[in-house]
Amino acid sequence: QFYMNFIEDDRWKYLWNGLGVTLQLTFCAVLIGIVLGVILAMIRSTYDKNYQEMRPGFGRFMLKILNVIAKIYLTVIRGTPVVVQLMIMYYIILASSNNKLLVGMIAFGVNSGAYVAEIVRSGIMSIDPGQFEAGRSLGFNYVQTMRYIIIPQALKNVLPALANEFIVLLKETSVAGYIAMQDLTKGGDIIRGVTYSPFMPLIGVALIYLVMVMFFTFLVNKLERRLRNSER
Ligand code: ARG
Repeated sequence: QFYMNFIEDDRWKYLWNGLGVTLQLTFCAVLIGIVLGVILAMIRSTYDKNYQEMRPGFGRFMLKILNVIAKIYLTVIRGTPVVVQLMIMYYIILASSNNKLLVGMIAFGVNSGAYVAEIVRSGIMSIDPGQFEAGRSLGFNYVQTMRYIIIPQALKNVLPALANEFIVLLKETSVAGYIAMQDLTKGGDIIRGVTYSPFMPLIGVALIYLVMVMFFTFLVNKLERRLRNSER
């Protein structure tokens, strides 16, 4: 009875709802990742050679501490698998929360932040130090120079790489089933389990990911072309 009902009603619902969860998870995680990443990159580039003489007036000691914390964060997050981080978040750090979607967003966001930080830092380092000196000679302080001169240019340079991070996360969130989130992958797996037929659900799920990735890749390429043309 359940099997028949499942076939009749629920197959598409599992895929459709799963797709919704996957997209929400990815969007929010990427946003959290970008916010964290930009902050981390700004902290890390205060210790960059280029900017050494121009470091902000506020406490060098404080900066040193922040840099050590940022470095530890980057090392730990990039040095451990995202599935393990997800489970640690769910079973240990946020064990008191019963909002899986939120836990997933935070776990993937925190993970993404570490990767975005390196993307943004490479963007900041690609900006000519002269830009920084220009800001300083206009009377901007360190944070203002970063905020109004360096970061906008850096972000423009790394925009395609950030969009790419979205694509990476779209696939990376497929491990969300480890904390029993019903994302797209889990949806397909549930159908496989109930119907005992693995082929259609799994190939179907793969195709849905593939189509989405191809679509977003197309958008990223378009963005890249447009940014390149706007240089002239
Ligand atoms: N697959 C990697 C892992 O298990 C995570 C990669 C995440 N990458 C990213 N750009 N957010 O740790």
